[in-house]
Amino acid sequence: MLDGFLTESILGKGIDAGLLEVAVHDLRAWTTDKHRTADDRPFGGGAGMVLKPEPVFAAIEQLQTPGCRRIYLTPDGVPLSPALAQDLSRQQHIIFLSGHYEGIDQRIRDHLIDQEISIGDYVLTNGTLAAAVVIDALGRFIPGVLGEEKSLTHESFTGKLLDFPQYTRPAEFRGMTVPKVLLSGDHGKIEKWRHARQVEKTQQVRPDLLKQTT
Ligand SMILES: C[S@@+](CC[C@H](N)C(=O)[O-])C[C@H]1O[C@@H](n2cnc3c(N)ncnc32)[C@H](O)[C@@H]1O
Repeated sequence: MLDGFLTESILGKGIDAGLLEVAVHDLRAWTTDKHRTADDRPFGGGAGMVLKPEPVFAAIEQLQTPGCRRIYLTPDGVPLSPALAQDLSRQQHIIFLSGHYEGIDQRIRDHLIDQEISIGDYVLTNGTLAAAVVIDALGRFIPGVLGEEKSLTHESFTGKLLDFPQYTRPAEFRGMTVPKVLLSGDHGKIEKWRHARQVEKTQQVRPDLLKQTT
């Protein structure tokens, strides 16, 4: 699931340049029975399968390093935010645990995991893409990954506002024109126009952001 993600585009280049390193592990490598069983039916009944504690404890205990952060991706975790992504970008080593089916044995969460993160209020079939989303979001904060550091400063959520609209050449396409102010060369006016669009967009789609104080 992660091959293209780890080799292509901005993140792939960051990995190639040695700015971050990502290793993918198969939990079955830490199973001990001949069927390499990593999950089992839930106690108390119910549908689906639950990841067993033994291979997860064995894997994390072998892979962890002093001070590393052990994260479980889960819809009932703390929502991913830019501040959290930035905090994670400063960690030396993170282990992401991805659940499947019904999730993982609660004892793993209680005794092994340092932080639980959700990438949104919806349910995915497994945590692998969620881990990729977190890695992508934190990767953007690692110096050098984006190339041009300035590109971070105007993004959505910086200063609680969504981003402004972007245009590129041609100035006219099928009768659709670019706002004149962007062609004016007047940087003060452009800044003002962009800020107004940010406020407008945020009011329209995320008024909750304008009410947040932190
Ligand atoms: C089908 S989900 C399990 C959902 C769990 N039974 C619940 O209702 O909270 C399987 C796995 O996908 C991952 N997952 C699903 N949605 C996610 C989300 N929004 N954020 C992070 N991880 C998610 C988790 O690792 C989870 O263990």
